[in-house]
Amino acid sequence: MKKIIKAVLPVAGFGTRFLPATKAIPKEMLPIIDKPLIEYAVEEAVNAGIEEIIFVTSHTKVAIENHFDTNFELEEKLQKNSKHEFIPLINPENFKNVRFTYVRQKSPNGLGDAINHTSHLINDEPFAILLADDLIFSEESCLSQLKIVYESLGSSVIGVNEVPQDEISKYGVIDPKYVDSNIKVNNIVEKPSINDAPSNLAVVGRYILDNEIFKYLERTKKDSSNEIQLTDAIKLMLTDHEVFACKYKGNKFDCGSKKGFVAATVFKGLQDEVISKAIYDLVQKS
Ligand code: G1P
Repeated sequence: MKKIIKAVLPVAGFGTRFLPATKAIPKEMLPIIDKPLIEYAVEEAVNAGIEEIIFVTSHTKVAIENHFDTNFELEEKLQKNSKHEFIPLINPENFKNVRFTYVRQKSPNGLGDAINHTSHLINDEPFAILLADDLIFSEESCLSQLKIVYESLGSSVIGVNEVPQDEISKYGVIDPKYVDSNIKVNNIVEKPSINDAPSNLAVVGRYILDNEIFKYLERTKKDSSNEIQLTDAIKLMLTDHEVFACKYKGNKFDCGSKKGFVAATVFKGLQDEVISKAIYDLVQKS
């Protein structure tokens, strides 16, 4: 079985929901406590064995490139001022052997189009996709949980979770078929209405896909909002390939929304040994 060593992280979106904060800073650089959102996704990928991170980016996102590059001046200053404890924070040990690659998406034409920009960088191998907006805290990372399913079944795997009916139309939704202890994807629909949703299992931003997906992305037509959806390409792939779903364990926060972003901050704050007591007291009081 081929190893999964590459992960694609699409980061070309405008972050309109967080304006004015995202006027000059990519939304992925907004911090949950003290770490940018994007770094949580990169950490999750690297800890799951990923060796190359491919960002699909745009001209407004250079801060992301700088963040994952070395900052010699800062490092030198920290050395000189004996602030050694900060050095691993700006230059994490586990990122040292990771290759960071950047591909520009010229205009935002949907998630499917973003992924299709990386076809020349993915060889004959399965690869991971992580959407940084979906921040998931769990003992075993969400991507590692998908990897376990991929390694046992050898087919593409999509992360899913149960969502309340009134939220279902914000997501890709699968029609599941339970085979032994596995969930096979019978069908998948992008953002269906409540009445058309085939189940309450929504797609979360974690995928392990066979490279065959590029063949189907080429054939995928734009949807009514003029975007190429990854969901539609996966739907086409289902006619020739098996795809499974992994109902991961963990706490997911939709950090693309203000509510989810603040909830993630509070959740993380309550786990932080220095500030947890203060955050707890604050939440209790309010
Ligand atoms: C994308 C996908 C959708 C998926 C969601 C997960 O939608 O198109 O199928 O459920 O990510 O976060 P977006 O949130 O980019 O609109």
